[in-house]
Amino acid sequence: MAILEVKGLRVYFETVRGSVKAVDDISFTANEGEALGIAGESGCGKTTTALALMRLIPKPGRVVSGEVRLNGKDIMKMSEAEMRKVRWKDISIAFQGSLNAFNPVQTIGGQIVEAIRTHEDVSKAKAFDRARQLLQSVGVDPGNADRYPHELSGGMKQRAMISMAMANNPDLLVADEPTTALDVIVQAQVLKLMKRVQSKVAMILISHDLSVISEICDRVAIMYAGKIVEFGTSEDIFSRPAHPYTRGLLSAFPSVSGEKKHLEAIKGNPPDLLTPPSACRFHPRCPYYKEKCSTVDPPMIEVSPKHFALCHFAGEI
Ligand SMILES: Nc1ncnc2c1ncn2[C@@H]1O[C@H](COP(=O)(O)OP(=O)(O)OP(=O)(O)O)[C@@H](O)[C@H]1O
Ligand SMILES: [Mg+2]
Repeated sequence: MAILEVKGLRVYFETVRGSVKAVDDISFTANEGEALGIAGESGCGKTTTALALMRLIPKPGRVVSGEVRLNGKDIMKMSEAEMRKVRWKDISIAFQGSLNAFNPVQTIGGQIVEAIRTHEDVSKAKAFDRARQLLQSVGVDPGNADRYPHELSGGMKQRAMISMAMANNPDLLVADEPTTALDVIVQAQVLKLMKRVQSKVAMILISHDLSVISEICDRVAIMYAGKIVEFGTSEDIFSRPAHPYTRGLLSAFPSVSGEKKHLEAIKGNPPDLLTPPSACRFHPRCPYYKEKCSTVDPPMIEVSPKHFALCHFAGEI
């Protein structure tokens, strides 16, 4: 069953130069017990997507349209008071660059205790025990609960952040760009641990690192310039990529086995999202470009069951 259903989500940043269309009409689902990967070049809208799921888009950003259903309920329609009950409890996030997300003047354990007690009526002592267990579950010595953020290494802090995100057994855990591959492995372990507690938990893993995504995720969304250009199982995406951008991304990446391969970077740069290219946003960089690509919006084609690509020629190339 789908824990999360996103439909037609658009998030724009209104700047003096105009609207930055950071996320522009994306739809996807995350199912019970599954890990969904989101990948794509810097600036394609991954973090913006994650923040929209938490309804934490910073100004001058705003959700222009779309539905975000969590367990069937559209969080975009919730009051801020309702949202506060959901945020960090049903859906939780370990932020990108979480190294600065902790309060520097409060101990790590104290902050996890606070996260637990905001949503649950438990004693401080009980919550502290749980904080220690949580830290242990992500491979951080529980003794660190009494320490301050600056006393922990970057990797430790990232893990502590994950444990804080898990503190309330969320149904959906979003991890934005874990700092290292090791942290990703820890997250996979964390997901397994969480599944033992509650089998329906889902995780969204945002990463540049396609090899970790291929190892951990059941399904993958590839983003380009604010759009999801391909969506499918890891097998579909990594063995039978249908979108030219996905192909380029994969060939620009050292193979998953670690063997050195010729790196064929995709020519050109991602577009400015103030004035994205017409029709298919990838057309100026696409090796398969045909005139239609710059004049007609590409359809989302189902190239094989549940494997979609936003390309006029998906399935043909
Ligand atoms: N506060 C803001 N004001 C204006 N534009 C913004 C703001 N935050 C993000 N953007 C723009 O939105 C787009 C998407 O940014 P986002 O941070 O979601 O990308 P990302 O895929 O997470 O990139 P990265 O891989 O570097 O983390 C970018 O073009 C970025 O410049
Ligand atoms: Mg980001």
